[in-house]
Amino acid sequence: MASQLTATKSIDELHAQEASGNELRRALTATQLTLLGIGGVIGTGIFVLTGVAAAQNAGPALALSFIFAGIGCTLAGLCYAEFAAMIPVSGSAYSYSYATLGEGIAWFIGWNLILEYLFAVATVSVGWSGYAVSLLDQLHIHIPAALSHAPFDQDKVTEHMVRTGAIINVPAMLIVAAIATICYIGIKQSATFNSWIVAIKVTVIILFILFGVSFINTANWHPFIPPNTGRFGEFGPSGVLAAAGVIFFAYIGFDAISTAAQEAKNPQRDMPIGILASLVICTVLYVVVATVLTGMVSYKELNVAAPVALALDKYPALHWLGIFIKLGAVAGMTSVMLVMTIAQARIFFAMARDGLLPKFFGRVHPKFRTPSTGTVITGASAAIIGGLFPVGVLGHLVSIGTLAAFVTVCIGVLVLRRTRPDLPRPFRTPLPWFTCLAGAAVCGLMMISLGAATWWRLVIWTVLGIAVYAFYGYKHSHLHRGS
Ligand code: ALA
Repeated sequence: MASQLTATKSIDELHAQEASGNELRRALTATQLTLLGIGGVIGTGIFVLTGVAAAQNAGPALALSFIFAGIGCTLAGLCYAEFAAMIPVSGSAYSYSYATLGEGIAWFIGWNLILEYLFAVATVSVGWSGYAVSLLDQLHIHIPAALSHAPFDQDKVTEHMVRTGAIINVPAMLIVAAIATICYIGIKQSATFNSWIVAIKVTVIILFILFGVSFINTANWHPFIPPNTGRFGEFGPSGVLAAAGVIFFAYIGFDAISTAAQEAKNPQRDMPIGILASLVICTVLYVVVATVLTGMVSYKELNVAAPVALALDKYPALHWLGIFIKLGAVAGMTSVMLVMTIAQARIFFAMARDGLLPKFFGRVHPKFRTPSTGTVITGASAAIIGGLFPVGVLGHLVSIGTLAAFVTVCIGVLVLRRTRPDLPRPFRTPLPWFTCLAGAAVCGLMMISLGAATWWRLVIWTVLGIAVYAFYGYKHSHLHRGS
């Protein structure tokens, strides 16, 4: 067993696999990939989680948290770019680690990527539901709270799950079903739909910045880093770190581009452009939004589900913009779910192709050429999870799973530089020792800041993953069967 756990799949084999059978359609350009990245990034993180992170952890220093998380993502993004250009195959970090660190780690990463993408679809559907219900409210269409909230939540003190009295979050479930249907039909159509949504959400964010700036009261920025309350993560430097762990969720998604490598027209050139361009654009927007937001409203008032809308509601002259922000947020979160669903279905596709998951997970639709069964499984699971749990609990879990994958990718780049220095690298991570180790350290620190309950959930998820591998993946792996 030990030898199979450390056995790697050769990169040449990965390429050969891509070339034969089950070819997905190569339709995406560099611009579309960048838009796919932005589409996957800007969503619940900035529109929902920002407020809580400012009010409970960082105060006005939230902008610093965004910079810290942005640095971690950029370093990991550089590593992703090297891999994505060198191994432009579907499956992202899962495939990279299969080629570098062995089947055991690859399984661990693939399993964590499910935690990232599938659970992110669920998380964002909950954020989407909150904004959509408030928009409908404004239009005098009222959805009962019992049908638009999670039946379970985490107790703030004990961190145990408790009943809330609600029945199920219906809007969250419906939006996931709609998104899965679009993804089922096809990547080209999905990319065009995504480009429109990205235009809308970036426009509303820029409008918020342009109009909000003149309502900044600089007194709200003092003290910039409020003093620590005595508890780790409640303001002070540890608060900035804790907020970075929370709002790291806002950056998740740029790596999803790499799962579409097999569908890029010119992956060697376009993958690094798509990853890094979307990351830089989002970092700049986030830091500016955080600065304007905490300047318009005292951080103490931001402990709400729709902080950006709250800031606009505070100033009558900006009320007109509120409705556009809500529409932009709803549209923005829709494209996040779209990108994440596409990504998850492709992770299933890659894992099934290697025999680590049953074959049907990777079935490609004969007419649409999309991983159709994987899309249906993703949609059905995310709808159930989104219907049952609240945004905070899910968001933390997604962040920790993603960070674990990032750390592994950073280390994987270094390993492959040593073991296969000969491989052609169309994009090389600059200063690899520094970039990889600093990337792993920054992401590792954010993992630590996420708290004990989230770590326990990660442990449970990992144990579940080990069980699935031991009882299914190990025996059916193509490496095991020698095919
Ligand atoms: N980054 C994505 C969001 O914030 C997951 O919604």
